[in-house]
Amino acid sequence: MAMFNLMICSIQILFLRVIAAKDYCDARSCEKEQKRYLFIDVLDYEGFQSRINTFLNIVYLVRVLNQTSKRSWKLVLPPWRHIQHWDIEEEEDSYLWSDFFNLSSIGRYTPVEEFYSITNGLSNLKVDKALKVSTTFSLDTGKHNRWEERQCNHKYSDDKFRFIGLEFEAKSTSCIISYGKVSSLAPLLEKLENHVTTLLIIGSTGILHDNPDGSEYWKGRRSLRYTNKLYKISETYRQMYLQSKANEDGTRLPEIWEDEMPKKESPKGGNYICGHVRRGDFKIGRAKTLPSLSEISESLIEAAELQNTTNIYLSTDADDEELKDLREAIPKELKTFRAAESTITKGLNSGEVAIVDIIICSKARYFIGTYMSTFSKRIREEREIFGFHPNSTFNRFYRDNIEQDEFIEINRIKF
Ligand SMILES: *[C@@H]1O[C@H](CO)[C@@H](O)[C@H](O)[C@H]1NC(C)=O
Ligand SMILES: *[C@@H]1O[C@H](CO)[C@@H](O)[C@H](O)[C@H]1NC(C)=O
Ligand SMILES: *[C@@H]1O[C@H](CO)[C@@H](O)[C@H](O)[C@H]1NC(C)=O
Ligand SMILES: *[C@@H]1O[C@H](CO)[C@@H](O)[C@H](O)[C@H]1NC(C)=O
Repeated sequence: MAMFNLMICSIQILFLRVIAAKDYCDARSCEKEQKRYLFIDVLDYEGFQSRINTFLNIVYLVRVLNQTSKRSWKLVLPPWRHIQHWDIEEEEDSYLWSDFFNLSSIGRYTPVEEFYSITNGLSNLKVDKALKVSTTFSLDTGKHNRWEERQCNHKYSDDKFRFIGLEFEAKSTSCIISYGKVSSLAPLLEKLENHVTTLLIIGSTGILHDNPDGSEYWKGRRSLRYTNKLYKISETYRQMYLQSKANEDGTRLPEIWEDEMPKKESPKGGNYICGHVRRGDFKIGRAKTLPSLSEISESLIEAAELQNTTNIYLSTDADDEELKDLREAIPKELKTFRAAESTITKGLNSGEVAIVDIIICSKARYFIGTYMSTFSKRIREEREIFGFHPNSTFNRFYRDNIEQDEFIEINRIKF
């Protein structure tokens, strides 16, 4: 019964979110238009930022396909559902990519399409073929550079897949094994494009970028701009509470990402520092490297002093008690800020508030992140795009028993 209700619910949500199927074609009309659609799976309860990591790898694969093959390939953007860290009430809601991101901006890097505008409200989806990435063999980019398609082992030969609350059925399934880079997967997919219109990759997190710190990665990353609405809300907050303005701080982006250029000089940044204080499940999963609240407050106080500011912006998933302790450890002369506590973010969902945090922290004079957090990584990337001096970006909270130089994850922008 519960299962049945869940299904009804999924179907209702799907119908609610249906968009005009402007670009959808069936197998025959697609053949005429030469359109090909790549679907990817998502792991239920994977975090928002982990899904973005996967997206950045796959969007590059589709870019290669679009450039080399005869057909026009599109990446289908799976809706945001079942996200780890989001409010439980939002559990059954699903969000579109266009709720968070500027799709025309991404589209100028690689053609993309929202899932719902392709599927037009179908509650289960038949795809022509599913390819299952086998992780039995490790990626060995040195010796070989190819992917191999094989028959799946018995236990994999199931043609039904379930994720984002939907059932996907494939007319056929095979397994692919990697000995190489993403770009060498493209020729394998091109061989299939004469027979299939819709292709589903299962295990898409196993597909890695050819060059995760090169300019091609950064192009995809730069194309991932947020919606104007979220930029505006962040800017309003910065003006009202932090007396900061993009024009004066040197943190205004060109209208389109293609016009971004390397900066000769580091921008000034807003008159505040930002700390991304990741707690939540890190307290269990990463207890060994997670600094204490008093270590965190010391770092913040020291940085504020060095940066000659009294404003500390906190981006954190700390619970109320931790937040209270953290604030009590910070002297009264220093003020702490959180957009989540402001009326400006009223009505935004968890994902939108997180993005507002990312934007505000990306424009701070100085940033301190949490080790191994993809959320901190995303903020550092934004700061690289603005051209901040790496000293103001690649900092993290330390725990005193850990070697100081041990783990700074540095990925400098390449144009
Ligand atoms: C897709 O590839 C075609 C042919 O190479 C190219 O003209 C087009 O600009 C590409 N689209 C994107 C968004 O890269
Ligand atoms: C997307 O960006 C373009 C400029 O690149 C802008 O004109 C457009 O309004 C943006 N759309 C949204 C939904 O933010
Ligand atoms: C520090 O900030 C104050 C107030 O914004 C300013 O008056 C002062 O000149 C600054 N000091 C330095 C060394 O930049
Ligand atoms: C950046 O940090 C390094 C190492 O601490 C230091 O030598 C250098 O002077 C700093 N540069 C700037 C511009 O602050």
